[in-house]
Amino acid sequence: MNSKNIYDSNRSAWNEALNYHQKARSNSLQKGFQDLNFTTFDRDCDVVLLEKLDKIDFTDKVIGQLPCNNGRELLSLMKLGAKKAVGFDISDNAIQEAKQLAEIAKIDATFERTNILDINDSYNNYFDFIYISEGSLQWFPDLNEYFAVVSRLLKKGGQLLIFEMHPIAYLFEVDFDAKSPDFDLLVPYFKKGPYHYKDGLDYVGGVEYESKEGYWFMHKLSDILKALITNGLTLEYIEEYNLEMANNESTKVLDKFPLSYMVAGMKA
Ligand SMILES: C[S@@+](CC[C@H](N)C(=O)[O-])C[C@H]1O[C@@H](n2cnc3c(N)ncnc32)[C@H](O)[C@@H]1O
Repeated sequence: MNSKNIYDSNRSAWNEALNYHQKARSNSLQKGFQDLNFTTFDRDCDVVLLEKLDKIDFTDKVIGQLPCNNGRELLSLMKLGAKKAVGFDISDNAIQEAKQLAEIAKIDATFERTNILDINDSYNNYFDFIYISEGSLQWFPDLNEYFAVVSRLLKKGGQLLIFEMHPIAYLFEVDFDAKSPDFDLLVPYFKKGPYHYKDGLDYVGGVEYESKEGYWFMHKLSDILKALITNGLTLEYIEEYNLEMANNESTKVLDKFPLSYMVAGMKA
């Protein structure tokens, strides 16, 4: 499978998923963003994120998110005082919704539909702060390529914040059933994949459907950190948490495992 096919398939799979997400949310984001104080950082796991964000001065900052899905997180981040935001995502439907939400929220945010790996050179050295959130890294077979883009886009001294699902949490992503545990059904930590979510990507409404082909990859924590460092980003902070990010029945039961992590970095 060549990379172009992977990204084209993932674009279709995510367009399909957005239809389910929008149905499940039934305009709650559109209603929410009419309120100036609305934020989507309201999950239990967001406590540690908000603590970290509280220490960052966003005044006059240009911030970005890769990928941004429907922009709800980037628009929530903008409430912390940044000047401008740009979000990038491969899904047509996600970007269309993000633009609509920005308009409703009256926030200066631009959203571009693009593969992260193809982000235009006009964004080189453009961002003071880049945010990467849960479910963002597994779509890229080669994290070196991905973090080369992050590094290219950040200004010198620009900050990177990752708050992602822990690679260990991805072990339970495909067929594992915690109610009748069969460890043969875990995704192997050391096998990159690709893997496919056969039952779809509706982590909002929980509807299972026969998903279009979409591909994701297992990345070890060491691979993530190596890709970051190799691309000229310094590691400023790392922490692992038992905080669940996705609605995953299996991980809920497996509360002895790390389920999320945070990494802060800086472009040297
Ligand atoms: C789970 S979301 C992550 C963003 C956010 N945390 C969220 O939960 O909405 C995954 C996003 O990655 C996007 N995506 C997948 N592959 C991509 C690529 N190659 N370039 C840009 N976006 C991509 C999808 O369209 C989707 O919106």
